[in-house]
Amino acid sequence: MNSGKNDVTNLEMSRYINLDIYHAVERSHPYYVEMVGELVKDISEAYEGKGGARILEIGAGTGLATEDFAKLEKLEITAIDMDENCKNILHGRNLDGVETLCADATTYCEPNAFDFVVSVFAHDHIHYDSAEKFVANIHKNLKPNGLYLMGGEVLPYYDTLDERTEALYAYHTFIVNKALREENFELAQIEINALKSGLHMIGDFKRHETMFEEEMTLGGNFEMIKKIKLGPDVPDDVGGVFVYVFKAI
Ligand SMILES: C[S@@+](CC[C@H](N)C(=O)[O-])C[C@H]1O[C@@H](n2cnc3c(N)ncnc32)[C@H](O)[C@@H]1O
Repeated sequence: MNSGKNDVTNLEMSRYINLDIYHAVERSHPYYVEMVGELVKDISEAYEGKGGARILEIGAGTGLATEDFAKLEKLEITAIDMDENCKNILHGRNLDGVETLCADATTYCEPNAFDFVVSVFAHDHIHYDSAEKFVANIHKNLKPNGLYLMGGEVLPYYDTLDERTEALYAYHTFIVNKALREENFELAQIEINALKSGLHMIGDFKRHETMFEEEMTLGGNFEMIKKIKLGPDVPDDVGGVFVYVFKAI
């Protein structure tokens, strides 16, 4: 796979994560496979019996989850990523029924075109300051009653910047420690880089539960219809990996 250090100008994740290593190990991130399985189940149940459906996947990266969505029948997937290196890898994988574009999830819009908008470990790559614009744009892309499915990492509650730092350490040290204990050193390294990116607000803007839920519903455009935590159950104070489903009103 070519993670392409070529002359590209639109970069995001590849500024601070080695894409080849990411692609090789990210599925072994705790609860990742279960989370994607849950999203696939939710999507297939929601369009069961319909002739077909369109999905907009935002922040598709190298296509780890896209690959699983593409196995569903009669689905057309538009997978966007604003990082050209990610988009080039994803494009090169030639997944069936998947159109790939280099585009920004806060602005890319085909009005009322999609049955589903999905993000996997990507919602929190959007800066807090762009949240309102981002949520409004998700809504614009969706058909009436369309669904936004978010699989992602959520921090324990924080209020101040200092508490945010502690929340980031609590979540990431749990994940890094788990990876180290499994001798999954490459995943541990990826997670350390993600922690650094979060601490320095480079490209990782994790939310806590209340913050995320308010961000999605305050504008009155979405109703939360599902929330599950894939793990960890213990400890219960480090945040975790969640699946949320919101319906466009
Ligand atoms: C942690 S990766 C997740 C990739 C993939 N969904 C997966 O499950 O492995 C987050 C992705 O979001 C992309 N991204 C960040 N900001 C974006 C934006 N504004 N619009 C589109 N993609 C963005 C990054 O380039 C990166 O590929």
